[in-house]
Amino acid sequence: MRGDARSPERALNSNFESRRYLIPFRTGLLPQIFCDTLVLGSGVAGLRSAIGAAHNGQVIVCAKDKLDVTNTAWAQGGVATVLQRGATEGDSIESHIQDTLTAGAGLCDLEAVRLICSKGPDRINEIIDWGMRFDRDSEGHLLRGREGGHNAHRVYHAGGDATGVELQRTLIERTQSHENIRLFDQCFVIDLLTMSPEPGSPVLGAMTWHPKYGLQVIWSRTTILAMGGAGQLFRETSNPRVATADGIAIAYRAGAQLADMEFVQFHPTTLYVPGAARALISEAVRGEGAHLLDHAGNRFMPAIHELAELAPRDVVARAIVRQIAQQGGKHVWLDCRHIKHFPERFPGIYSTLRSFEIDPGEDLIPVHPAAHYTIGGVRTDLQTRTNVPNLLAIGEVSCTGLHGANRLASNSLLEGLVMGAIAGEQAAVRADAGPVTPSSIVSAIDESGHAELDLDDVRSSLRSCMWINAGVERNRTRLEDACDMLDFWARYTLDKVFETPDGWEVQNMLTTGAMITRAALHRTCSIGTHTLDSEPSDQDRSRCFEHVVWTRGVEHPKHTPSISVPGSKSSGSVAVRAEPEVNPSVSDSP
Ligand code: SIN
Repeated sequence: MRGDARSPERALNSNFESRRYLIPFRTGLLPQIFCDTLVLGSGVAGLRSAIGAAHNGQVIVCAKDKLDVTNTAWAQGGVATVLQRGATEGDSIESHIQDTLTAGAGLCDLEAVRLICSKGPDRINEIIDWGMRFDRDSEGHLLRGREGGHNAHRVYHAGGDATGVELQRTLIERTQSHENIRLFDQCFVIDLLTMSPEPGSPVLGAMTWHPKYGLQVIWSRTTILAMGGAGQLFRETSNPRVATADGIAIAYRAGAQLADMEFVQFHPTTLYVPGAARALISEAVRGEGAHLLDHAGNRFMPAIHELAELAPRDVVARAIVRQIAQQGGKHVWLDCRHIKHFPERFPGIYSTLRSFEIDPGEDLIPVHPAAHYTIGGVRTDLQTRTNVPNLLAIGEVSCTGLHGANRLASNSLLEGLVMGAIAGEQAAVRADAGPVTPSSIVSAIDESGHAELDLDDVRSSLRSCMWINAGVERNRTRLEDACDMLDFWARYTLDKVFETPDGWEVQNMLTTGAMITRAALHRTCSIGTHTLDSEPSDQDRSRCFEHVVWTRGVEHPKHTPSISVPGSKSSGSVAVRAEPEVNPSVSDSP
């Protein structure tokens, strides 16, 4: 089914809607595993939730690759929060809340922001108690950096620029030593299992695949989805190879509501070396005083925003793309030559730069924006519940309302810790209801009558298409083109049955890419990370600060009304989300 090019709405495409499961199976014929809580994903949110859930019941964690191959482990900058010391030095939780709202450009949910910012200090103190080694000065005081959009130094870091690695290590060690937690690595989650294929049917666990053990059914009372990361949808990305949008796609197939999918955060500064993967150059580097220069060697950010290089990420990414369009070439420069102790403060980045023979003490660094973080995702309430019974969602795969239309730097590890703890508590309580009753679930898939496309070619074409047509700056014609291309590839790819992860990944990437482009076409005003080259009509403008929610099989998305909260420094109103449509049977369904 093709969309009407004149209409802002894009018709549902049956290729994306019809398939409930990616593979045919009969659960009764497959190996069965049972647990109280199944955690899908081994990043910060997933592992923190597993620790909470293990207070009551048996927990299984599935990691797609090794346990530490996650977006979390790649996080450089740090965790933003206001500990007591910050509060006594002019910073406050209220100020962190205000900065989050300002960066979110009017689409944050105030209650989510308040919850996560105010619970942050407890979670950071807890992780320190669990052995996380944040950087300290010679007197043992925690060091604090600054990043874009923050009006204070409140970003705690470890190993200089290895915060994610250290956080991941701490959580892995804690989960590995817990008698109620089993950790499965190399475990690809193909789909969530639901009692019936209809949207809204309770989740009963997941269908997984392991290179050694093949297909396995894992039954669980509660399933916690923590499989965030979709950067691989874009040709330019700071994300690892595993970030192929699987979590969003499996949730969509299972009937979960997806909110605000058009919002993808582009990190302003990844290293631009032709032919090499885009390595992140942390915003903390600009927090230490690095400047962005055009090709004539002039700073261009001070003329664009009062915070100059430390403006919110969407502002800096747009400014760089526009600068490149104006001056030509493929990148701008990051000048770190005046930063003392660069190798000590940023050892990982320094080593990456040196491997390309760049000396940040002497050379300018070529940088370019790249897809970094999925802001939209599975819609949850503040207890991490989704509209699908038995399914909780946390971390990057979720959309709690914290990030609005643009995430404040270093708020994502914080969200993972806070919401992971809440999901764990929820799951521990739910375990009292006893194990789920396994169901006989059958997936039958007709053989495809279409020719087959070259999977590698679809993957790389899709990534280029998303970058060019749905990247930092968007316009209606290019988004329409992207929808057409995705529809075409879907016709020949989503109707197939694959037996290994590379095929399932491409199917998930097509599904999520289609969600992002369709949502981007639907939101006709520019806000946060979603930048269009056209002026919105008055009617479009009036809908700017609404959440837009998509569900499989439902033709028109739902708009959630927002209420303006006076007194915010954000550029628009602050969205206060009406109660999400959590299924009332979430805590007592089978
Ligand atoms: C960075 O270090 O710039 C990334 C941190 C983040 O995305 O929050």
